[in-house]
Amino acid sequence: MPTVTMVGGGQLARMTHQAAIALGQRLRVLAESQDDPAAQVSPEVVLGSHTDLAALRKAAVGSHALTFDHEQVPTEHLEALVAEGVNVQPPPQALIYAQDKLAMRTKLSELGVPVPAFVPVAVAADAVRFGDEHGWPMVLKAVRGGYDGRGVWMPETAAEAETIARDQLAHGVRLLAEARVDLKRELSAMVARSPYGQAATWPVVETVQRNGQCAVVIAPAQELSEDLAAEAETLALNLAERLGVVGAMAVELFETHDGILLVNELAMRPHNSGHWGMDGARTGQFEQHLRAVLDYPLGDTSALAPVTVMANILGAPEAPAMSMDERLHHLFARIPDAKVHMYGKGERKDRKIGHINVLGDEVAVVREKAERAAHWMSHAVWTDGWDPHGE
Ligand SMILES: Nc1ncnc2c1ncn2[C@@H]1O[C@H](COP(=O)(O)OP(=O)(O)O)[C@@H](O)[C@H]1O
Ligand SMILES: [Mg+2]
Repeated sequence: MPTVTMVGGGQLARMTHQAAIALGQRLRVLAESQDDPAAQVSPEVVLGSHTDLAALRKAAVGSHALTFDHEQVPTEHLEALVAEGVNVQPPPQALIYAQDKLAMRTKLSELGVPVPAFVPVAVAADAVRFGDEHGWPMVLKAVRGGYDGRGVWMPETAAEAETIARDQLAHGVRLLAEARVDLKRELSAMVARSPYGQAATWPVVETVQRNGQCAVVIAPAQELSEDLAAEAETLALNLAERLGVVGAMAVELFETHDGILLVNELAMRPHNSGHWGMDGARTGQFEQHLRAVLDYPLGDTSALAPVTVMANILGAPEAPAMSMDERLHHLFARIPDAKVHMYGKGERKDRKIGHINVLGDEVAVVREKAERAAHWMSHAVWTDGWDPHGE
């Protein structure tokens, strides 16, 4: 059976490993530490940094495909690996549009795909001029390296923009400015594509962010017209093909109040907006990603219930006194249908340490259950005041 190497030892690699097991495969991971979520479970761990070409080479030796759980590998290293015959999927010339937000905005504009107005920021004055033209508040973003809202700022005034831009540029962070979209909600269209060219989409989902970070995903997005859903899926399929993507790709979208879709960003790997499919779809994103990078036929992506809600378990400001084990006991006692996925990570404020999936018929009921379960796992507090030790 083939071996796939995944660069990065986070929860995405951990859950990809889980899918690999069912296919009779093993996932080799390049992890920074033996404690990383995927390194805890994979029998083939190469310890090292994704910025070290020697470590990347070591992880790639003998594997059938090399893929990623994050976007941070330097492009020149990936090109070196490709030149040495490593099967890098997605290929570096596609991955760049998930790594570099400026390259992505520029490319998508060229392709005629709607994106928010944007401009590169070379000096702080560029940001101020853009805000004065497009209105305040505006959005400043790190071109590379941001995630979970880290690397996104929304200055309200010229003075604020100037301070942020100057500070970040002084630290060597490349920036772009973009118009703040007055959005109705955020959607994600996920697709997987194989080298052969087969592609499959999952139902379009709604992603709910808190503090710039994904908190809840509703699959499928509710009250989304068939036309708009089809438009989003077609957009994802076309982008995957035109950019030469291989593997899973999430297209993060803004839906405006006038029913227009703008692309926010691309992720070319399993993505938080696809976690619902582990329990809620016939084929989840982790298995599909493996199938795609190995050029197997893709799996059926249809949903198993009218609605699935995924809620992230985020580290509380202070870890509760109750152990995770005891929290799990109580959760299972109260909500037996909650599907729990824990990542083996320490509890730190706002850190994604796991997620909950709940399937059902009615979105309000399912969402409440999923969010209540996730909040319980984070805080050891029931949102409705229920006391596990009371009567
Ligand atoms: N131009 C924008 N207008 C309005 N909200 C935005 C804009 N850009 C980003 N956001 C908000 O910030 C979140 C994080 O931004 P994003 O570019 O996706 O960064 P990250 O790489 O951290 O996910 C988005 O999901 C959205 O909620
Ligand atoms: Mg994002």
